[in-house]
Amino acid sequence: MSGWVQLQGVDLHFGAVHALRGIDLRIAAGERVGLIGANGSGKSTLLRVLDGLLKPGAGSVVRDGAMRQAMVFQRPFALRMTALSNVALALWLRGVRWRDAKERALLALGRVGLAAIALRNARTLSGGQLQRLALARAWALGPHVLLLDEPTASLDPHAKREVEALMEEFAESGMTLVFASHNLGQVKRLATRVVYMEQGRILADLPVRAFFDGPLGETSREAELFVKGELG
Ligand SMILES: Nc1ncnc2c1ncn2[C@@H]1O[C@H](COP(=O)(O)OP(=O)(O)O)[C@@H](O)[C@H]1O
Ligand SMILES: [Mg+2]
Repeated sequence: MSGWVQLQGVDLHFGAVHALRGIDLRIAAGERVGLIGANGSGKSTLLRVLDGLLKPGAGSVVRDGAMRQAMVFQRPFALRMTALSNVALALWLRGVRWRDAKERALLALGRVGLAAIALRNARTLSGGQLQRLALARAWALGPHVLLLDEPTASLDPHAKREVEALMEEFAESGMTLVFASHNLGQVKRLATRVVYMEQGRILADLPVRAFFDGPLGETSREAELFVKGELG
């Protein structure tokens, strides 16, 4: 099966900041991994390493050679052109002919419920529509692994539910999901596995039920306090 990725002993510095420390993580095809931890704990950096945007200073990143991946960033962005062209451009940049790219882009916009605004200037879209545009752009690439950095952080409750529903549908279609989130309810709803980070380290890596319901033990004391704090 496509869609696995493995990090071993990954270390990464930004100048004096030690952002990732000794990260060992194997993500199997079809998993839904929720990444949690305080601001600055390394979630975004880890996602960027998984996506290949950042090269670690030490350690290895190995992925299934046949696999495609896509990333949805924390702040949805769009170029000053139609929603359709925004998605088509992502395909064209990967070598798809413009006419085919537009066809696939329309399909992708339909997939996220945005077909009706395909010809609107993307800069006029609401936050929720922009995030769905980002999901369409990612989905159009046919990724085996979808990486999402706090995909609903800036959205109102309605838009948040729409984005979560799409993530759920993508996962059900067999896509591997790795998403950072501050919303523990969302992690409970969508993840099958929880990775808790602190100061660049993974302190807990457990099935979602074990993480939220089980005693986390001494090594994960901090994770327990974090969960209590966030939920309390
Ligand atoms: N481009 C960058 N340059 C310098 N420091 C960075 C950069 N990106 C992240 N950092 C630092 O690396 C650490 C981890 O950041 P980040 O991965 O963004 O954490 P999180 O997503 O969990 O909030 C933080 O201390 C942050 O300030
Ligand atoms: Mg972040």
